[in-house]
Amino acid sequence: MVKILAIESSCDETAAAVVGDGYRVYSNIIASQIPVHRLYGGVVPEIASRHHLDAVVPVVDQALKQANTALNDIDAIAVTQGPGLIGSLLVGVNYGKALAFAAEKPLIAVHHLEGHMNAIFLEHPNLKFPFLSLVVSGSHSGVVCAEAPGKYRLLGQSRDDAAGEAFDKIARALGLPYPGGPSIQKAAENGKDIYNFPQALLNEGYDFSFSGLKSAVLNFLNKMNMKNEPYSVADVAASAQSAITRVLATKAVQAAHSEKMQTLVLAGGVAANLALREEIKKLDSKLNLLYPNLVYCTDNAAMIGAVALNKFANKDFADLSLNAQANLPLYYLSKNPQI
Ligand code: KG4
Ligand code: ZN
Repeated sequence: MVKILAIESSCDETAAAVVGDGYRVYSNIIASQIPVHRLYGGVVPEIASRHHLDAVVPVVDQALKQANTALNDIDAIAVTQGPGLIGSLLVGVNYGKALAFAAEKPLIAVHHLEGHMNAIFLEHPNLKFPFLSLVVSGSHSGVVCAEAPGKYRLLGQSRDDAAGEAFDKIARALGLPYPGGPSIQKAAENGKDIYNFPQALLNEGYDFSFSGLKSAVLNFLNKMNMKNEPYSVADVAASAQSAITRVLATKAVQAAHSEKMQTLVLAGGVAANLALREEIKKLDSKLNLLYPNLVYCTDNAAMIGAVALNKFANKDFADLSLNAQANLPLYYLSKNPQI
């Protein structure tokens, strides 16, 4: 029985998990810094690094304890190498390296987005490659053909803001708390999609652009405030959410059709968005639409362990010269090398 200890610290969650054969999750511990960063309306990198330093040792200890596993019984240590905030990544990478060195275990480097795309196996261990993946997090948006473990073909990506970033920035302009995605989703429950915000590149390939939408919302709010005209935050939230999710859903479904994929897997924090799921079902109710449980949509270490299981089987190990990389590219089968 293989058991892997995985560590994730790329942004504002310090996470550790023990996963094993068959994508079994023995423990999945997440120390979130959201309440800290909420004070500033977004993640403050320097504060994030310091909190990772405080949290990493107890979080890893708790993951081992909850899995009822001693470090000696672990077969390999996996860490998120990138992409992410460099100071945050360094904490997880260095602690993982120290543990691997001290316990004489192999070290496995994992790409954060490959982790998001493989999170689905934790609940659907029998899912087979290939499938189409819509990866939508706070810093990346991509339409990806997941061909095989480690083999991904990029069809399109964001040219500017990521989908989650658009949610976060629009929420901030509306005075809604960080993270913006859940706040906008909640506010939108009581609102109507009445404002015609731009849906950039809607039927033009698989690339995204969300910065125009963000500017349109900001301009709208400025105009209303200057004219002292009332507007409903719920209606703006509902309209912005529907502009983002319509573009995401349309491109993902078109890509699934043109690539002849039966299964569409949502990945990353924005995969938690209910309007996105509904929009996709509306466009094609026959697609096998899969999305992880909320805890596996947003950052966690079990998804890092899921990738590491395949790397362990292929003896794809890193050495102790491993370094964190803020812009670590995920190499694709296509010519376009990264998102
Ligand atoms: O994957 P993730 O936890 O971290 C990154 O790798 O960036 O994604 C975080 C992002 C944030 O931008 C957050 O606003 C967004 O996911 N998010 C959501 C929802 N829950 C989280 N966006 C829309 N609707 C949600 N329910
Ligand atoms: Zn993430």
